[in-house]
Amino acid sequence: MKEQFERLDALTAKALEGGGKERIEGQHKKGKLTARERVNLLLDEGSFQEIGQLVTHRSSNFGLEKQKFLGDGVITGYGTIDGRLVYVFSQDFTVLGGSLAEAHAQKICRVMDLAMQNGAPVIGLNDSGGARIQEGVVSLGGYADIFYRNVRASGVIPQISAILGPCAGGAVYSPALTDFVLMAEGTSYMFVTGPNVVKTVTHEEVSSEDLGGASTHASKSGVAHFTAGNEVEGIRQLRQLVGYIPSNCEEEPPTQAYTPCDEARPMLDTIIPDNPNQPYDIRQVMNAVIDPDSSMEVHAEYARNMVIGFARVAGRTVGCVANQPAVLAGVLDIDASVKAARFVRFCDAFNIPLLVFVDVPGFLPGTDQEWRGIISHGAKLLYAFSEATVPRITIITRKAYGGAYDVMNSKHIGCDMNFAWPSAEIAVMGAKGAAEIIFKGEIAKAADPAAKWQEKEQQYKEQFANPFEAAARGYVDEVIRPSQTRQKVMAALEMLRNKVDKLPRKKHGNIPL
Ligand code: HXC
Repeated sequence: MKEQFERLDALTAKALEGGGKERIEGQHKKGKLTARERVNLLLDEGSFQEIGQLVTHRSSNFGLEKQKFLGDGVITGYGTIDGRLVYVFSQDFTVLGGSLAEAHAQKICRVMDLAMQNGAPVIGLNDSGGARIQEGVVSLGGYADIFYRNVRASGVIPQISAILGPCAGGAVYSPALTDFVLMAEGTSYMFVTGPNVVKTVTHEEVSSEDLGGASTHASKSGVAHFTAGNEVEGIRQLRQLVGYIPSNCEEEPPTQAYTPCDEARPMLDTIIPDNPNQPYDIRQVMNAVIDPDSSMEVHAEYARNMVIGFARVAGRTVGCVANQPAVLAGVLDIDASVKAARFVRFCDAFNIPLLVFVDVPGFLPGTDQEWRGIISHGAKLLYAFSEATVPRITIITRKAYGGAYDVMNSKHIGCDMNFAWPSAEIAVMGAKGAAEIIFKGEIAKAADPAAKWQEKEQQYKEQFANPFEAAARGYVDEVIRPSQTRQKVMAALEMLRNKVDKLPRKKHGNIPL
């Protein structure tokens, strides 16, 4: 027996070496952690249980038989985050560049299958040169096996990807299918084809960073939901994210203890500027309504005219969606619509109530938006809210104009409780534009057209630029003082705790993709 034990110890020691000391040093020199260091940081201390440590590839193409590494370049297994079960895979760049082929893919599929069976999130720590070129079509098949599982698991268990190195080719599609993507600044890249291929095909010269670095994907493409200055910070963010979400679609999100105190927020009574065209930061409103320091913004750098993120109210997770009047006046455009729609669908899939703050002047007009399909993209948000069955609360702080009023979680599309501040303006459009259209003839004929315009604008404002017309019809449940907002939201969430709402029987809907 002693011999077998020694053999086991030797194999374990070998597996822990990854691609060897030199390559590990190389990884550290680039400012990156090793695959094992990442897993240990991510999971509660001592909780990691490895699966498939002794797996190796079976290929002898191009001399691969001389390059066998225990684990085949990916560490897989399970452990806990704050005591809750998660499954994890962590690609090891020191082994054949973290490239993926048959055995590597089978290991990832195994933890994904276990995660589905047992209803717990999968977290992928990606650091890979993509399909292992030597293994050919087997590598492509391996990727497809993972993509298939990503899609089957979508909406059943949360899937989270961290990009912690180069991710090229097939390596980017699995993360793109998951719910959230985090990238580390300066050391991670995502692209379908790298700068060299880009240069050959399009003659564009672009650096890896510009083409697919963290800030590019966080601000331009929207592929990355979170960025971190370094890996340690990034892994801390992953742990924080897991703390908001349930383990699977059948569970409620985890809660935190909350001690009730004075819930009035007097500062909200003075937050709306006198001039309706003056901006203010909707984050200040959100922060006053949620539990102090309980938020985690998603897509913070992308489509900043919309703010989305997780927070807690009385210790319970909520998903916040808010127009941001401080950026582009909070207008709805393509990027903002898509950003919010995907988040709404995530929250709905995982039983997270939605808290929506509305101050929106409408959809962004213009050829750029129209030609790129604002109609279909805006409809995504309409679709996402309309199909959501979780508790849904809206607070209209100021403008709710036109189609954007309907889209932003209005009563008509299934919002449960709609509150409006006295400063709310719920109308087809702004008073100035409305007066110009409906009183065009009268204004033109007037002795002093400017004065007439002003008079008609005022008349329109009095009749429509307020919340009372909508409240009279029951489109708004209650007009509240801003300072009461948190109390009202807390009461509504409690009232909606056992909400049951089912969609009609169907195979699946057909969101305008
Ligand atoms: C096999 C690979 C590999 C790969 C890297 N390596 N990528 N081995 N298959 N795909 C190996 C290298 O040969 C090298 O081995 C070691 O990993 C480290 O790589 P370096 O190039 O030295 O590292 P670095 O300079 O940091 O560059 C990293 C990189 C680059 C940007 C990822 O290696 C690269 O461009 N790799 C190829 C990317 C790619 O085109 N992948 C295929 C995409 S096609 P040695 O032993 O020399 O140290 C694809 C199709 C899937 O994925 C489609 C599914 C839909």
